[in-house]
Amino acid sequence: MKILIIGSGAREHAIIKRLAQDSQVYCVMPKKNPGIVKLCKKIFLADIENPLAVTDAIKGETFDLAFASPDAVLAAGVSDALIHEGIKVASPTKAAARIEWDKSHMRKLTEKYSIKGRIKFRLVKTEKEARETIEEFGEVAIKPLGLTGGKGVKVSGDHFQRIEEGMEYVHSLLQKDKIALIEEKVEGEEFSLMCFSDGKTIAPMPPVQDHKRAFLADTGPNTGGMGSYSTGAILPFLEQSDIDEAHEILQRTIDAMANEGTPFKGVLYGQFMATKKGIRIIEFNARFADPESMNVLALLEGSLSQILMSIAEGKLIKAKFSNDATVVKYLVPNGYPDKPLKDQEVKIDEAAAKKQGAEIYFASVYEKDNKTYLGGSRTFGILGRGKTLDEAERIAEEGCGFGKGPIWHRKDIGTKKLVQKRIDHMRRIRS
Ligand code: AMP
Ligand code: GLY
Repeated sequence: MKILIIGSGAREHAIIKRLAQDSQVYCVMPKKNPGIVKLCKKIFLADIENPLAVTDAIKGETFDLAFASPDAVLAAGVSDALIHEGIKVASPTKAAARIEWDKSHMRKLTEKYSIKGRIKFRLVKTEKEARETIEEFGEVAIKPLGLTGGKGVKVSGDHFQRIEEGMEYVHSLLQKDKIALIEEKVEGEEFSLMCFSDGKTIAPMPPVQDHKRAFLADTGPNTGGMGSYSTGAILPFLEQSDIDEAHEILQRTIDAMANEGTPFKGVLYGQFMATKKGIRIIEFNARFADPESMNVLALLEGSLSQILMSIAEGKLIKAKFSNDATVVKYLVPNGYPDKPLKDQEVKIDEAAAKKQGAEIYFASVYEKDNKTYLGGSRTFGILGRGKTLDEAERIAEEGCGFGKGPIWHRKDIGTKKLVQKRIDHMRRIRS
């Protein structure tokens, strides 16, 4: 198969690595990602958030299948443009991806269809409404409606303490967007559960836990995700009933979107919170999670090319996964997330990392004169895989040692101590 991918981060590197096992891969990217270039038959450089630029870049070429990957690319309508070119597409249209790029749409949909896991929310347009809502809800999460790369949410108790601080954030959102979303704060342990969907049925992937906070022991600002781990069909702090509930929520959401006339084809990614009273929906995303995609794609048994084709053709095939444990740690630039260094040279010894069992995925980096430079966001995703979490963590940690330059990582991701903290937290929540 000739498959076209739009996107160029570590997530797309992981997708392309799988596809390249049995397909010829082509990729449209804004700057040369040296890890991805090596795996592709051909690359096209273009502004991937501009649908016209994308279709211009691939003019004269034919493909059996295309997959647009990052959130902003889907929100810009790149899948629609590719469909318009007569290509079979396995990623969601702009209307279907709205589940991610418009948080008010997502909350209203879960309300309209009484989808389990929905939470209390209010859209506010004035500071008065905001203050009344915060007073009524107590602890809240304050969010802009659009895409923020995981960095736009402020939660009481976590990111601010007093109402006034929350109101300052509301004030800045109202100035910018004239509207803000306030949700009740839900407490529990978060996990990511993705599924493939052809618009009708779902093929779930194993659950993964991401780490949003920048620093050790979950402190510091929110990031796009510092690393993630998986332990097979279930995470250590979850029960089978949690997984079943999350699957049901994903299926009900797919049904709702079909009913709305915006069927969802692609990867639907639920960010869930396991709480005392069951699973709650934090967010839906219309794409593979990053870094969690690296965990699950390493475990996928069978052909990703075939699965994506089955999505595009509306005849989803089942996806099977190994039960191994995986750990991903992201090497990120000094200063990340607030003031990340850019345009400095970085190196990674892929051969040495591979020899010791780690896989390296190139994220926000670009190639110039045969050297690799920081692109200004997360740098390299380092994956370890093993029969146990300990083994996977050790491999990922050792793999991080092969990166050189002004970069750092969170050493505690996937460690026994941190995972035990999650288990204890969940136990306290449930009792
Ligand atoms: P999001 O960008 O929606 O993924 O939110 C970023 C992070 O904020 C999530 O991973 C959660 O940890 C937290 N968060 C978002 N919404 C809520 C909520 N309603 N209650 C508690 N925490 C939340
Ligand atoms: N894992 C965070 C995200 O992909 O949004």
